[in-house]
Amino acid sequence: MDYKEHIAIVENWPKEGIQFKDITPLMDNGKAFKSAVDDIVDYAQDKEIELVVGPEARGFIVGCPVSYALEIGFAPVRKEGKLPRETIKVDYGLEYGNDVLAIHKDAIKPGQRVLIIDDLLATGGTIEATIELVEQLGGVVAGCAFLIELTYLDGRKKLDGYDVCTLMQY
Ligand code: PRP
Repeated sequence: MDYKEHIAIVENWPKEGIQFKDITPLMDNGKAFKSAVDDIVDYAQDKEIELVVGPEARGFIVGCPVSYALEIGFAPVRKEGKLPRETIKVDYGLEYGNDVLAIHKDAIKPGQRVLIIDDLLATGGTIEATIELVEQLGGVVAGCAFLIELTYLDGRKKLDGYDVCTLMQY
């Protein structure tokens, strides 16, 4: 399926010079959204994944239906101060800013095979921080899946040695 026809390109948002890729039209189209989720489920199929981890907020939107389909759990990675129990944290840089990401300390069991899912791979800062959180807790990153990859920002270079799947490239 050509998913790009369901992505809205928004110029100069959220900042001047950023060309935002809006996935809400894809989410609004039940068939296209299901097909995209199914593609990631297919990618995960032979990887013995035991847990899906996704960073807020759009990593939840894509990650949760994949965990549901695989009948495994989902662990949220959130911006600092949002998770109620004991967390570990990591600083990271974004395409447009800086932030701190956190995960519950008991979210992952040592040796657990994890699929990390997000909507977008841009500079790779978010995924790099998420991988660091997963690995600090002893998880094994068995794959990373995204709807969209911005190839011109070269986020893939931060994912050397990891198994990566992206459904659309710009
Ligand atoms: C966006 C996007 C990815 C990340 C990709 O999230 O959903 O998580 O940026 O950029 P990177 O590869 O350069 O790190 P954002 O931080 O805007 O958070 P949000 O989903 O909560 O809006």
